[in-house]
Amino acid sequence: MSTPLKRNRSTPSEFVPVDESAGDLLDHHQYMDGSLPPGIRPAKWSMKAVRAELEAMAGDERWDGNTRYVSLRSVDSDYNSTIPTMWTTIHWLKPGERIDMHRHTPGSLYYIIQGRGYSTIDHYRIEWEAGDTFSCPSHSWHEHWNTGDEVGLIWTVQDLPTYSYNRMVSFQSGDSDEMSFLHKSKG
Ligand SMILES: [Fe+2]
Repeated sequence: MSTPLKRNRSTPSEFVPVDESAGDLLDHHQYMDGSLPPGIRPAKWSMKAVRAELEAMAGDERWDGNTRYVSLRSVDSDYNSTIPTMWTTIHWLKPGERIDMHRHTPGSLYYIIQGRGYSTIDHYRIEWEAGDTFSCPSHSWHEHWNTGDEVGLIWTVQDLPTYSYNRMVSFQSGDSDEMSFLHKSKG
């Protein structure tokens, strides 16, 4: 006799059978042939091209402090990453602009290419200027302010693709009560 299903808020109202073609069996050779990723070429991103792209974005009101950045992508890597396990961006923060309070599962490293300002990371405050490096651990609340007179250029690297492989990328904005998990089942 089957046990009645105990329902809670996350219990679906309907279930469908598993698609049996979603899993199959491989022998030793088949597994070995597909178990290593394809080769990846080294890549270069010139600061000249980055500045030109960001400068154009700076004159376009679709972008604000939170979204005005470029991702340095390796076209040979999955998930738009820079190398398979890391994601790199360069942000352009205008004087007086900020990146709003938020947190996420990936951790971050920052290098200040140009400008001056400060960041808060949980209850810590970090003053920064060109040449400084600092870190933000996984899940810490953080925001970044440009308090100087010139554009802030912030180079960031996150281990986001590592979380993607494990389907564990989540994000919460400072105004929200909930952490959003960004991964879904297929189908
Ligand atoms: Fe962040």
